[in-house]
Amino acid sequence: MKGLRTVLAGVTLGNPTMLASGMMGETGASLAKAAMSGAGAVVTKSVGLEPREGYKNPTLYEADGYYINAMGLPNPGIRLFKEEMREAVSSGVPVFGSVFASSIKDFVTVASNMEEIGASAIELNLSCPHAKGYGMEMGIDPEMVHDIVREVKGSLKVPVFAKLTPNTHSLIEVGQAVERAGGDGVVAINTVKAIAISVEFRRPVLSNIYGGLSGPAVKPIGLRSVYDLYDNIDIPIIGVGGIDDWRDAMEYIMAGAKAVQIGSAIGKKGMTVFSEITSGMLRYMEHNDVREISDLVGVAHERK
Ligand SMILES: Cc1cc2nc3c(=O)[nH]c(=O)nc-3n(C[C@H](O)[C@H](O)[C@H](O)COP(=O)(O)O)c2cc1C
Repeated sequence: MKGLRTVLAGVTLGNPTMLASGMMGETGASLAKAAMSGAGAVVTKSVGLEPREGYKNPTLYEADGYYINAMGLPNPGIRLFKEEMREAVSSGVPVFGSVFASSIKDFVTVASNMEEIGASAIELNLSCPHAKGYGMEMGIDPEMVHDIVREVKGSLKVPVFAKLTPNTHSLIEVGQAVERAGGDGVVAINTVKAIAISVEFRRPVLSNIYGGLSGPAVKPIGLRSVYDLYDNIDIPIIGVGGIDDWRDAMEYIMAGAKAVQIGSAIGKKGMTVFSEITSGMLRYMEHNDVREISDLVGVAHERK
């Protein structure tokens, strides 16, 4: 699949599809399964310094065309995650270690540990919409984002990507802050803050009330985010949000993404979604005489 090769800040992916953080990324076995199913790279579930149980159920609401989740960042903590990484890294595709923290110091510690246990790149979760004191609360402030990225970047050798939230009017400023701080790329988007209400119980469905919307419903927001970022920054963009099939993935590439991540679609289609998307992309390229996927990155911006 030479024509599908993509390079993200020096990290080479055999094809531009990646497993998004949080979907089957908790264990080494599930990360390796995504790699064997054709993902060009995999992203771990977001891992923090200490173990966290996450929120009480219900944590996931499913409707036609979307999910709303508030898992509460459950994870075993970076020390215990080491065992999982061993198996993930041996799968042969680059493993992006997703990390979260509530202070710059902890971001540096968790990211350095992720690098030590074999991550090819770090993805900073600056965008979770439902964990108080983490994620989005930090990721909407360009100065805070700048300082986190600069400190993590200064402490590591592997590339550092920042995953951005769409829950802000400052998306472009935040993206520019990542670039100014020496960040190697951005990932857009995390979930969109949302709620669901049970008519029977007359209460919000999720135990945390608020959750993050994902799946096909968020694709136009993700696409707009990637399109805007492409016009305003010069570091690689990874697109994510509502990608269900090869056409969705191609839209993100044409908007300016060098790679795409797939999350919710795995709930519906399983791991075969990676090979389904890559074969659809190759067919499109053959029919249209396109040799390299990189020739399509950002083409939707060209004005004739
Ligand atoms: C159940 C669930 C758990 C998630 N957990 C994480 C997480 O731990 N860290 C993170 O950065 N994003 C997390 N996400 C967000 C996804 O990585 C992705 O950004 C979002 O779902 C949009 O993509 P999609 O529409 O393909 O799912 C999670 C999403 C879902 C549905």
